[in-house]
Amino acid sequence: MSASTPKPRLLLVGGGTGLVGRHLVTEFSRDWQVVSLHRHPSPQEVAAGAEVHEVDIASVSDWSPFLEGVGMVINVAWYRTGSLRRFRPLADGLVRLVADAERARVPRFVHISVPDAPPSLETGLPYLSEKRRVDRAIEASGLSYSIVRPTMLFAPRDKLVTVMMRTMHRYHRFPMFGDGEYHISPLAAADLSRIVRRESARSDRRNVLVGGPRRWRYRDLTDTMFGALGLRPKYLHLTPRGAVRLARLLELLGSTLLYVYEVEWLLSDMLGLAPYEGLDPPLGQVEPFLAEEAMRLRGTRAAD
Ligand SMILES: NC(=O)c1ccc[n+]([C@@H]2O[C@H](COP(=O)([O-])OP(=O)(O)OC[C@H]3O[C@@H](n4cnc5c(N)ncnc54)[C@H](OP(=O)(O)O)[C@@H]3O)[C@@H](O)[C@H]2O)c1
Repeated sequence: MSASTPKPRLLLVGGGTGLVGRHLVTEFSRDWQVVSLHRHPSPQEVAAGAEVHEVDIASVSDWSPFLEGVGMVINVAWYRTGSLRRFRPLADGLVRLVADAERARVPRFVHISVPDAPPSLETGLPYLSEKRRVDRAIEASGLSYSIVRPTMLFAPRDKLVTVMMRTMHRYHRFPMFGDGEYHISPLAAADLSRIVRRESARSDRRNVLVGGPRRWRYRDLTDTMFGALGLRPKYLHLTPRGAVRLARLLELLGSTLLYVYEVEWLLSDMLGLAPYEGLDPPLGQVEPFLAEEAMRLRGTRAAD
C-alpha cells in the first residue's frame, strides 16, 4: 500500500485495551485504519495510530455514523462476569450493531465468541446466554461473518495462565480441581489475531471453534508450569464440588481470581479444542511463554 492510498477502515468494537483487542490493534494497524470504540481508551492504541472514540456500547442507539465507510467490523466486547442486568444492555447494543451493519452493507463482520459450555451454563448464566443471543443475531443476519470461538488465551498480563504461574511461584502449591484428567488447548492471543486476519479475508458465513497447537491434559500443563518455575509440582487436591465451593467463596469475597463458571467449564472437559488449521507460521506452543513468565517472576521475586 502506497503512502497516498488511504487505509480501509476497521471498526474495532470493544477497543484496543483488552487482552484480545490490544493484539488486534498490533496486527491490523499496519494496513487498516483502526477505529477503536470502548469506554477506557489507552495511550498505546492512540500511539499505534488508532482513531479512538470513548463510548459505552450499551448506549449506542444508532450505529450508522460509526459504520460509514467501514470495510470490516470486529467485535471483542464482553465482560468476564456479571448479572443479567449488566449483560443485557451490552448484548442489546451489539444486536443493534449487527442490524445496522447489515443495513450499511459492511463487507465483513468478525465476532469473538466462546466455545460450547455445559447446558446449565449455556442457559442459566447471563455471560453465556446473552453471548449466544449476539451469536444468533449474527447468524440470522445477511452479513458475511466469522464467529471465532477460542479456548483459553495466553499472553503477558492475561487473567488465567499468568495468574496460575504467579500463584505457583508465590505459594509453591496449586489447587488441583478433581483428577486433572480434563483437557485444555491454550492459544496465544497473538495467534488469535493472525486467525482473525485469516477469517477476515474469507467471504463465507461461518462459526469456528479455535484451539491452540496442543491439547493438554490439565495436570500435565500445571506440572509443566511448575517445571518452568524450577519447582516440584505440589497440589492441594480438591473434589469438583470442593473446587466450586472455593470459587464461590472467592467470588463472595470480591476476588477476580476465579469464577464458579470457569471451574465448571474446565471440569466439563469441553475446552480441549482441536488446533486451528492453516496458519503459516504455525500456532505457537505455550512452553516458551511459560519460560518467559517464569523468568519474569523469578527476576522480580524480591519485590513480590
Ligand atoms: N481471554 C480469554 O481467554 C478468552 C477466551 C475465549 C474467548 N474470549 C472472548 O474474547 C473477547 C475479548 O476477551 P478479552 O479477554 O480481550 O476481554 P477483556 O480484556 O475484558 O476486553 C474486553 C473489552 O471489551 C470492552 N468493553 C466491555 N464492555 C464494554 C462496553 N459496555 N462498551 C464498550 N466496550 C466495552 C472493554 O473495554 P473498556 O473497558 O475500555 O470499555 C475491554 O477492553 C470476549 O468476547 C471474550 O469472551 C476471551
